[in-house]
Amino acid sequence: MLEFLQASWGVLLASVFSVVDKNRPVTDIWRQLNTTIGGRLATSNPWPQPCFSSINGRPTHNDSSQCGTVCQNYFNQHIARSDVFAGYSATNFDMCMSNGDQCHLDFMNPSNPLAFSPPADCRQGSIPSYYIDVQGKDDVIAAFDFARKSGVPLVIKNTGHDFKGRSSGPGSLALWMHSMKYIHHAPEFVADGCPTSDAHNAVTFGAGQQFEEIFQHLDKLGLQMVGGSDQSVGAAGGWAQGGGHSSLTPTYGLGADRTLQYKVVTPDGVARIANACQNEDLFWALRGGGGGTFGVVLEATMMVSEVESYRVANINWPPTTPNLKQVLEIFLDNATNFALQGWGGYVTITTGNIILMTPRLNLKEAEEAMHALIELTTQLGGVSTVTEVPTFLSWFDNYVRGMAGAQALVGLPIAMASRLVPQKNHATSEGRAELLEALSSAFGLSVFSQIHFTSPYGFTGSDGSDTSVNPVWRTSLYQVIVVNSWLFDSTLEQRKEAYAQTTKSINYLRDITPDSGAYHNEADIHEPNYGHSFYNTNYVRLLEIKNKYDPDHILDCWQCVGWQGPSRPRYSCYI
Ligand SMILES: Cc1cc2nc3c(=O)[nH]c(=O)nc-3n(C[C@H](O)[C@H](O)[C@H](O)COP(=O)(O)OP(=O)(O)OC[C@H]3O[C@@H](n4cnc5c(N)ncnc54)[C@H](O)[C@@H]3O)c2cc1C
Ligand SMILES: *[C@@H]1O[C@H](CO)[C@@H](O)[C@H](O)[C@H]1NC(C)=O
Ligand SMILES: *[C@@H]1O[C@H](CO)[C@@H](O)[C@H](O)[C@H]1NC(C)=O
Ligand SMILES: *[C@@H]1O[C@H](CO)[C@@H](O)[C@H](O)[C@H]1NC(C)=O
Repeated sequence: MLEFLQASWGVLLASVFSVVDKNRPVTDIWRQLNTTIGGRLATSNPWPQPCFSSINGRPTHNDSSQCGTVCQNYFNQHIARSDVFAGYSATNFDMCMSNGDQCHLDFMNPSNPLAFSPPADCRQGSIPSYYIDVQGKDDVIAAFDFARKSGVPLVIKNTGHDFKGRSSGPGSLALWMHSMKYIHHAPEFVADGCPTSDAHNAVTFGAGQQFEEIFQHLDKLGLQMVGGSDQSVGAAGGWAQGGGHSSLTPTYGLGADRTLQYKVVTPDGVARIANACQNEDLFWALRGGGGGTFGVVLEATMMVSEVESYRVANINWPPTTPNLKQVLEIFLDNATNFALQGWGGYVTITTGNIILMTPRLNLKEAEEAMHALIELTTQLGGVSTVTEVPTFLSWFDNYVRGMAGAQALVGLPIAMASRLVPQKNHATSEGRAELLEALSSAFGLSVFSQIHFTSPYGFTGSDGSDTSVNPVWRTSLYQVIVVNSWLFDSTLEQRKEAYAQTTKSINYLRDITPDSGAYHNEADIHEPNYGHSFYNTNYVRLLEIKNKYDPDHILDCWQCVGWQGPSRPRYSCYI
């Protein structure tokens, strides 16, 4: 599966699809909404539709050349998944998991005709019925008003990268943020209403802006920002509002730590500015409390810093189980020091690779820090090096972009779970031995596993009280993710089994980290005691703020703050 995903990566595409089903009935309330927003209400079919000969039970024309383009780009995160309204990166959330409705190709072999030849029917699944390509605050205000009067569920969709299905939902109206794109650098940004003495080197961008363009824009100006591991994730949406971890987090903090201001429309229909000097409660909630919950963000401003060089460790070993155990043993011995030395990056268990970078050590110090890992992995037959890169963009382009993890998580169902692993589990050799056993057991039950060495444990710029990020992030050294999946022709039993396997896997870590929790952006959809696990001591205040700005719960999402529970029709596709 991984090799296949890697092989299909990077294929370029010439055309973008926009297929509208002209037969869908439009009732009066929708017509009225359409008039209010100037005729920009749209319907959307699943983007693989050109391969199929029927859609939602009605015959349609398939188109072999467009189908060929879909096949070629099935794993392309930009064109196929985020530049098209109906594209979602984890396909368990554009399908309907509970009844199997989907419009998928075979991710093991996208041109396999069994997935799309009759009797296969292209089904809407969880893709919202209608959407607005948001141009500004008036669209959002109209949508809140419509949702309040009609009871139609409202979802906010940016890139569709969410791992918990919070940007889709059957029968919903979606606000698509993708067109809200612009980037401005402000060397002396002062948040609205704040004292001019409080100026920061900052970048302001629209809600639809994705990391790739921001990284490139900043690099040309000699600047860098704390940003995620994938070029197509949105910077202002779920990532920043949910916390936002980065390889730079050990040195500079989380995305939420770096945020200076949001422009946001709250569900009462009011456009607000939220920062440290006005709407402070809302600002705090939007710094970690999660997307899709407190309002619709139109614009974000975040701190930037001057580019700097990094020392990069690229550690590789043949990924057998005994090798992994030996590598992990040293890694656990070294993890606390690594976090304090500013190392940040990714351990991909499945492929046998560690990539870490730090701006804080010089080359000699970096080589010393990595000595034990390099010695072992070289003995095991791997090629491991410590080198230097001049900028964040060169680190990103050479090591992170296209890394196995980023590719393996796009274009297929992802039954994910995760755990934040506290430093204290590493404090004694007994603790590390217990952890090694738990990690090995967990990875044994997962088809794809990664350690995100991206925690703010070593970040000294904030104690975290000015953000609503799960405080457990700050006492943890890393996050572990485990993933299982299913094939295109799965049964309900197989889908449930994939989730059950994931839960069983992560339970090994839950058992030995009882007062820890998980990062809600990359978590189990069946997270036990989710309010505490995702928000810990911040949950109570977050709920108060939710109820203040959205007393009618116009915005609601799966296991979000103030969640109304699974019985609503919007959640009928979860299993
Ligand atoms: C390949 C890949 C790599 C990833 N790497 C990282 C990483 O390095 N670090 C990390 O922290 N996370 C990472 N993630 C997880 C990522 O943070 C989440 O998927 C996040 O929810 C994506 O946000 P989005 O806005 O791009 O996606 P969407 O799915 O469009 O939205 C996610 C959530 O945010 C809400 N939302 C979106 N836009 C707005 C808005 N303007 N206002 C209010 N709410 C909004 C949505 O309603 C939804 O609840 C990765 C995900 C993928 C698929
Ligand atoms: C909204 O109105 C425009 C202009 O009349 C029309 O082209 C479009 O199809 C309508 N949208 C829907 C979903 O009916
Ligand atoms: C449409 O689908 C049918 C059945 O799978 C296939 O035989 C036919 O070649 C397809 N036509 C085009 C134009 O792709
Ligand atoms: C890493 O761990 C090994 C023992 O496994 C130890 O010899 C070495 O000093 C450690 N290095 C760091 C940077 O902690």
